[in-house]
Amino acid sequence: MRLPGDKSISHRAALVAPLAGSASVIRGLSTGADVRASVRVMQRLGASIDCAEEEGGLTIRCAGGGLDAGPPPALDCRNSGTTVRLLAGILAGTGVAAVLDGDASLRSRPMRRVVYPLQAMGARIEYEGEPNRLPIRIRARATGSLRTLRHRARIASAQVKSAVLLAGVLGRVRVELSEPALSRDHTERMLAAMGAPMVFDPVRSGAGSVRFDPAGWDGTLHGLRMTVPGDPSSAAFLIGAAMLSGRSVYVEEVAANPGRTGFLSVLEEMGASVRREPLPDEGGEPRETWTVHPPDGLRAFSIGGAEIPGVIDEIPLLAALAARAAGRSEIRGAAELRVKESDRLAVLARTLETLGVEIEEREDGLTITGRTGQLSGPVETRGDHRIAMAFGVLEAAGDADLRIDDRACAAVSFPGFQEALAPFRRHPARRPGSRGGRVIAVDGPAASGKSSTARSVADRLGFVHVNSGLLYRAITWWALEAGIGRDEKAIEGGAPALDIDLVPERDGLTVGVEGVLPGPALHSPEVTTRVSAVSAIPAVRTVVLDRLRRAGRRYRIVCDGRDIGTTVFPDAELKVFLVAEARERARRRLLERGAELTTENIEAETERLESRDRLDRSRAVSPLQRDRDAIEIDTTAMDREAVVEAIVHLAAERGLAPR
Ligand code: S3P
Repeated sequence: MRLPGDKSISHRAALVAPLAGSASVIRGLSTGADVRASVRVMQRLGASIDCAEEEGGLTIRCAGGGLDAGPPPALDCRNSGTTVRLLAGILAGTGVAAVLDGDASLRSRPMRRVVYPLQAMGARIEYEGEPNRLPIRIRARATGSLRTLRHRARIASAQVKSAVLLAGVLGRVRVELSEPALSRDHTERMLAAMGAPMVFDPVRSGAGSVRFDPAGWDGTLHGLRMTVPGDPSSAAFLIGAAMLSGRSVYVEEVAANPGRTGFLSVLEEMGASVRREPLPDEGGEPRETWTVHPPDGLRAFSIGGAEIPGVIDEIPLLAALAARAAGRSEIRGAAELRVKESDRLAVLARTLETLGVEIEEREDGLTITGRTGQLSGPVETRGDHRIAMAFGVLEAAGDADLRIDDRACAAVSFPGFQEALAPFRRHPARRPGSRGGRVIAVDGPAASGKSSTARSVADRLGFVHVNSGLLYRAITWWALEAGIGRDEKAIEGGAPALDIDLVPERDGLTVGVEGVLPGPALHSPEVTTRVSAVSAIPAVRTVVLDRLRRAGRRYRIVCDGRDIGTTVFPDAELKVFLVAEARERARRRLLERGAELTTENIEAETERLESRDRLDRSRAVSPLQRDRDAIEIDTTAMDREAVVEAIVHLAAERGLAPR
């Protein structure tokens, strides 16, 4: 899957790029309501932002040049804490006046955390109503009149840190900030990418501290050109759904900022297997692709302390998963959740309890005991997008019958969330709680129609089609790329250590090898010529066997090849052996290639197939043969539909039909 642009990075792009000294073009911004709020308030402040909805998200084009210092506008930041808090820092730094306000949820959230340090820098900010709450008024101020600040934040908050840094950079005064644990560092990275001298620790080895010192800096922020990577927090919810439905997922180009990926470690603790492959940074932000495989059953987890800022937005999801994990999960040190879009600890505790889950609520966390059996009941989201999504995941993939009062609020961060969940809705490929792994083996000689038949059968049954030939082709492709395509000794030596596996893609499985998805290159003429020889190498067959069996444990599969029923899955639930007279196979192959059906062509092709059959039947390792309990179907006089129908019927007899 590919996710909409990261919300945090999108906010910063919309809020900071218009303040640069030169033009910016940023693509792939989140289309969520929160980011739109950021774009809108900057436009109201006179920033030049041209915003277009394009494929892959919003594209913004900013001429740069800053804000208009007109009469103070009243700005509605809607539901977005990031908008209001970062904006407070921007207005303090630029000296531009405005009144900031938001919806009922935002009005209930604490603002002192940013107001206080900004006032300490000399910004003039007043509460229009209740102290510590919106609306707040920020008064105009001459540029260059802020004071330097050294701030020890009591809580780890990227929004607080960003407000102070933005005020410092835009007001050109030194700021130094430390936080009790490291929060996400998108602001530092973006300002550094734009040329501001930021001192921070992007590898997060030490304690949380960051410094901006304008000494020696000419004060120019350069325009930005970047594409915002996918949102890891949005990804987390879909990955959670995949874990509950027992499916693997491949996530393309996602933001991998170390302050955002803590939930991957929690999923690993729950038993998932996670593979992360780096992509080049963009705009100072690390990006990765992820492959996540589910465990046979989720295990409980325990998180707390310095880990919390790195999973802060994913805790509602983790709590939902905990309800379906074996054992007791612990969340500690997460009092910040009480001042998010809702009091998330209270809402999670109340809702899970209503659904019949054993849960204990503490001031700073939750203890959740997972349970089996159906969960059912109402969900009051309080208009909180992460709560709506967490229970949306349970409902779709966690065997829960829920009445969620407001699903639409997911659009705050993830428009299209409901549609994105569709593939994980109790998919027949694997039901919640099932061990997964049901295998239909389809073997047969060359050109017996195995592969296309297997694919159609998989479609009909909601299984996943696995073509063993793809793995042999991938190893052949790798050998050719490595320049050892004809060196069998070298292939034999390299195969066992090869990083190769079947990975999910849009409509089935493809092969990833050494971090690459060769895709169509697997069917190049070079690969086709060499694949037979490479697949005869015993070490190669061992690797392929292992990966096929792994797929058989993970999914319900229809697997085709030449030794699937005999060697790879001797205990397959159904084994089919397709045969057809050589002449008929020759005819089908010629048709497939679009060649002319002359007697001469048919004869030549028949001869080629017969000699391939002899080779396949007589080779030492895994020769082509029908297994004792395989059902032979002679397709000579049958069309494809009839063959598929026959296999689906056999599957139904064995209880393998879709329910
Ligand atoms: C965010 C920081 C976090 C997070 C929010 C986005 C940001 O808030 O919860 O969704 O983009 O800086 P805090 O910094 O207040 O923890």
